Amino acid sequence: MAVIFAMAGSAIGLGNIWRFPYILGEHGGSAFLIVYIAATLLLSLPVFVAEVTIGRRSRRSAYGAMAALESGRRWKIAGALSVFIPLFILCYYSVIGGWSLDFLFKSVTNQFIRQTSEEVTGLFGSFITSTWEPIIMHLAFLAICTAIIAKGVKSGIEKFSKYTIPVLFVLIVVMIVYSATLPGSMDGFRYLLDPDFSQLDAKTFVYALGQSFYSMSLGMGAIVTYGSYVKKKENIVATSVGTAISDMLFAILAGMAIMPAVFAAGMEPGAGPGLVFCSVPYIFSTMGAISPILSSLVAVLFFVAILAAAATSCISLQEVGVSYFVEHRGMTRKKAAWLLFAICGSLGVVCSLSFGPLSGVTLVGKNIFDLFDWFASNVLLLTLGFIVAVFVGFVMKKEDVKDEITNGGTNRATGWIFEVVYFLIKWVAPIGILGIFVTNFLI
Ligand code: TRP
Repeated sequence: MAVIFAMAGSAIGLGNIWRFPYILGEHGGSAFLIVYIAATLLLSLPVFVAEVTIGRRSRRSAYGAMAALESGRRWKIAGALSVFIPLFILCYYSVIGGWSLDFLFKSVTNQFIRQTSEEVTGLFGSFITSTWEPIIMHLAFLAICTAIIAKGVKSGIEKFSKYTIPVLFVLIVVMIVYSATLPGSMDGFRYLLDPDFSQLDAKTFVYALGQSFYSMSLGMGAIVTYGSYVKKKENIVATSVGTAISDMLFAILAGMAIMPAVFAAGMEPGAGPGLVFCSVPYIFSTMGAISPILSSLVAVLFFVAILAAAATSCISLQEVGVSYFVEHRGMTRKKAAWLLFAICGSLGVVCSLSFGPLSGVTLVGKNIFDLFDWFASNVLLLTLGFIVAVFVGFVMKKEDVKDEITNGGTNRATGWIFEVVYFLIKWVAPIGILGIFVTNFLI
């Protein structure tokens, strides 16, 4: 049971609160939601089971896990990919961590109270287009995470986040109830829950799967590593289903808190990465007209909880690289952590600038930030997810997979459940992922 909390803690983060609503808004609203749920159950969940299986069978972290089960250079390369991918994501994840930090300061100084929707949008707009403020916040956020990693005290922040995730849950529910009272908010609920299939296109599928992988921390070895901590008596299928459902629930609830506010404020659901940072302050602003103290309290708690979720994710992303340099390159923890700070921090600066001075630098209509995010979620994660599914489906022996998933035939995942899961891992996931991967380059 404890491991479900650990995995859900890794899964629940900015991906649910920040990324899900804006990707949904850009790619089909309610139709996106349905495709996202289907992609999670049919493709991500089998890959999740496959990653946990590899981790628990090999008892290794991502870098050496596949190579420990099957010799061959190619599995080493796959392991190396699982060190590289989280670091790539870290570069821009910490930029959004920086935005959250800035918005915590803004809520502490009561900047959202009694603002019109144009004013809260303007607040975000002037922050994001300025040069230094987002960079300083990004580097400050990353430096805090790096200092925690360098000192090796990440368990402290993990304990802290155990409390903040339930707090976040409660706050989101409060925000859903509250935003339902805003005039015009019902259009937001309709936008989310009333399927409009005319919005569906190839991009919906591509982004729904990318989002699902991102949100469940798949395709980068994180779950393989967690899998290596899963006890032998634990039921892998049940653990995976539990994590998938709590992650989806969090994302959908975040959507239900944010979309009604987006509509009530007359904002565009497809406004992009700033969506949460415009709509949530609008909620706090209108709340402030009723009770400024309550509004400030909810705002501060909300951004503290988001920051904690972002920091734990950031730390685990960075930890993959740090442990690689410590274990395989003989570096000290401190040196490895600050080396990665320098590399990912600098690349993150470029991502941050792509909303301001570098916004003109685009490729196929995407700025640098979007390119990083697209390449990570839609290309890298799918690549490793595909490799993992093929590894468990075709390289590992079926008896071994069965032994691991059914705990030697002793748990409830035996019989038809195993056969269904195995079929999903071996055929549905690789073919589905490959199809979507290729589609990426056709649209
Ligand atoms: N899933 C996390 C989120 O939704 C982000 C994330 C991706 C992550 N990979 C990870 C977190 C690995 C921890 C470890 O925000």
